Amino acid sequence: MRKKIAAANWKMNLTIDQASTLLEDITSAQLALATHQLAIFAVPFPYLSLANNLVATQQNMFIAAQNCSDKAAGAYTGEVSANMLQSMQIPFVVIGHSERREIFNESNAQLAAKTDIALANGLTPIFCCGEPLAVREENNQNEYVAAQLQASLFHLSAEQMSKVVIAYEPIWAIGTGKTATSEQAQIIHAYIRSLIATQYGESIADEISILYGGSVKASNAVEIFSQPDVDGGLVGGASLQAAEFIAIINALP
Ligand code: PGA
Repeated sequence: MRKKIAAANWKMNLTIDQASTLLEDITSAQLALATHQLAIFAVPFPYLSLANNLVATQQNMFIAAQNCSDKAAGAYTGEVSANMLQSMQIPFVVIGHSERREIFNESNAQLAAKTDIALANGLTPIFCCGEPLAVREENNQNEYVAAQLQASLFHLSAEQMSKVVIAYEPIWAIGTGKTATSEQAQIIHAYIRSLIATQYGESIADEISILYGGSVKASNAVEIFSQPDVDGGLVGGASLQAAEFIAIINALP
């Protein structure tokens, strides 16, 4: 069975005290995650170590970085390498979030390099894709997302690809309160899985978790996560409140 994942993306929010309170509130809720269910917290770099310690004793709870450098090491002031994350036992890294693409101009080629270096350092990439509103309005979302995957992921070997988690996040649904309908999510998730099947075969396509992101909250998580090709969510705003995110974790099938 493929993994069902509730991934929190804290973005650039919370002080260290707020961060530890939030994680303590969630870890003390004694959530009984099944073996196929994961809760992942993508926290700001300065909190990685603290967060990793707080989830260390929790079954199936893990920490992610929100980004990593496409460079291995050296004179890149302000950057954080995949090797640093590996050395801190951080298992996941978010790559290519639309805010990185749009605000920091990260290109498909750069995201391919980040994916490669993350995998080479034993990290599991949570690779984000998704179209802006204008593309959706023209009904070109399939072509847009296919081009993103082609440019940044489809050079991977089958073995590498099987380690990747994909997050489909339509940009028009991120932080807007506007969610894709569960039907819209299912249609494009099934399409993404079909692209992977064409490139790598059915069994790899079947194994890869494809998360939905964009205004997921406790009140819509059950419906969205119940779609057959939706394997959980990447959650921004609603992941900053313990009760909301606990309910989202509990919504995992
Ligand atoms: P949101 O963000 O849940 O606040 O819409 C999702 C994301 O950006 O990952």
